[in-house]
Amino acid sequence: MVTIRRARAADAAAIAAVHVETWRDTYAGLVPSRVLVGMRRRHKAAMWSQALDRRRTRQVVMVAEDAPGAVVGFGSCGPAKGAGLDFDGEVYTLYVLPDYQGRGIGARLLAGLFEALLAGGSRSALIWVLAGNPARFFYQTAGGAWIAVREERLWGVTLREMAYGWDDLEHAVAVLRSHSAT
Ligand SMILES: CC(C)(COP(=O)(O)OP(=O)(O)OC[C@H]1O[C@@H](n2cnc3c(N)ncnc32)[C@H](O)[C@@H]1OP(=O)(O)O)[C@@H](O)C(=O)NCCC(=O)NCCS
Repeated sequence: MVTIRRARAADAAAIAAVHVETWRDTYAGLVPSRVLVGMRRRHKAAMWSQALDRRRTRQVVMVAEDAPGAVVGFGSCGPAKGAGLDFDGEVYTLYVLPDYQGRGIGARLLAGLFEALLAGGSRSALIWVLAGNPARFFYQTAGGAWIAVREERLWGVTLREMAYGWDDLEHAVAVLRSHSAT
């Protein structure tokens, strides 16, 4: 049984391993190969250590754990970044290992992130996803409405991103929870 819980400082290395594996699996052909080849678990572990330091950030990180210490997915959220869109919270990351996808873990992680945002006072949330990433249909399945599109210059290339929004997180959590209970 996979458990969803708040991440702890000790999870940084395990999150980094999932981060690198899922990026290489998801973004091949979408972002430049040199970016994926150049990813290092060590660097990502240092990044996640900082993100997990509650004194330094308002970010919340959740993990999906198959056995103690065996992280198979993670997600993070916090205040919406950037201006112009009328949403309080933002899901920054959401990744499930390829072998664990399609088992309801992503939906449970998303519900956990939305609950964390609600606990922090957010009523609504958005997420940005690469337009070429089929994961965007997961957000539609999860009740997100397509609210915006932007072009970002990243790693020397122009990438098209789409934002999905939920204007009522309580309702979104109820729908996600009822779905994962069936
Ligand atoms: C996107 C992701 C987080 C979804 O997690 P998951 O555990 O595979 O999804 P779940 O099993 O919880 O799926 C929940 C529902 O969404 C649907 N769904 C999942 N991925 C989907 C997709 N790509 N397209 C359409 N529907 C999808 C499922 O069929 C399921 O619906 P159902 O209950 O009616 O069958 C996961 O597939 C993943 O990590 N993908 C690669 C990384 C990525 O792209 N992350 C997002 C970056 S913004």
